[in-house]
Amino acid sequence: MEALAASVRPPGLAVILAGADPASAIYVRNKIKACKDLGIKSEHLTPPSDVTTVELLASIIKLNARSDIDGILVQMPLPAQVDSKAALLAVDPSKDVDGFHPFNVGSLVTGRPGPRSCTPAGIMELLRRYEIPVAGRRAVVVGRSDIVGKPMAFLLLHENATVTICHSKTPDLAAVCREADILVAAIGRPAMINAAHIRKGATVIDVGMNRIADRSEAERVFRGAREKLEAFDRNGSVLVGDVDPIAMADLASAYTPVPGGVGPLTIAMLMVNTIRSAERRLGAC
Ligand code: GUN
Repeated sequence: MEALAASVRPPGLAVILAGADPASAIYVRNKIKACKDLGIKSEHLTPPSDVTTVELLASIIKLNARSDIDGILVQMPLPAQVDSKAALLAVDPSKDVDGFHPFNVGSLVTGRPGPRSCTPAGIMELLRRYEIPVAGRRAVVVGRSDIVGKPMAFLLLHENATVTICHSKTPDLAAVCREADILVAAIGRPAMINAAHIRKGATVIDVGMNRIADRSEAERVFRGAREKLEAFDRNGSVLVGDVDPIAMADLASAYTPVPGGVGPLTIAMLMVNTIRSAERRLGAC
């Protein structure tokens, strides 16, 4: 990514990381690093694990009022005692670089311009750049989260895919998944999508990021993949997505691995949303 040319002022992104979730801490660190690489001014707020909803809303309201802040990101999940919906509703929709505010979700659903949730937007960009056709094809999204599953389904629908959303209560999940030309797995269950779920030649997008800390589970998932088991022995754990990576080699025509698949795209789209927000707020477009 190219650094931004000097302008009136650099774009400004505030990232709120409440509590001590280790995965969130890594995601946020990568987001802040990307800002630095691009010349975006970033601010990192770290309220403690016992922050209250009222305290968090007060921080968000202050950021809403600041002219040097173009984007506000509240890293999810928030600590259990915080009302997440209230926090997302408090972010000024014009600074909502995640596309999570109900105003922007409404824009997505009704096909109006606005910021799009970063992981699904990154996946659409990936499909475009790899020239994987979407229109007229069957897309199955496994997972119905507000962050990935639901916005993903709408973005695919707007590109004229025939979309099915599956979840933990879907009967015969494997049979539904086998109908997919494009399958997006975002369920948070290690290697749950396996050979039984994939039709040969499908495009498989793995959004999962699960840490396996049990060696026998790592052996089951990675079978003969020595490199991964050596990594487990070095670190005491290993990352795996929601898709069985070994099974994909013979089945998928295209597959995003974990790590190194959609993760970097999420960050790239956050940078795009932040820069667009700054341009809009500075009157450049
Ligand atoms: N938690 C997991 N993914 C995301 C994301 O894209 N944005 C925010 N704010 N929290 C997340």
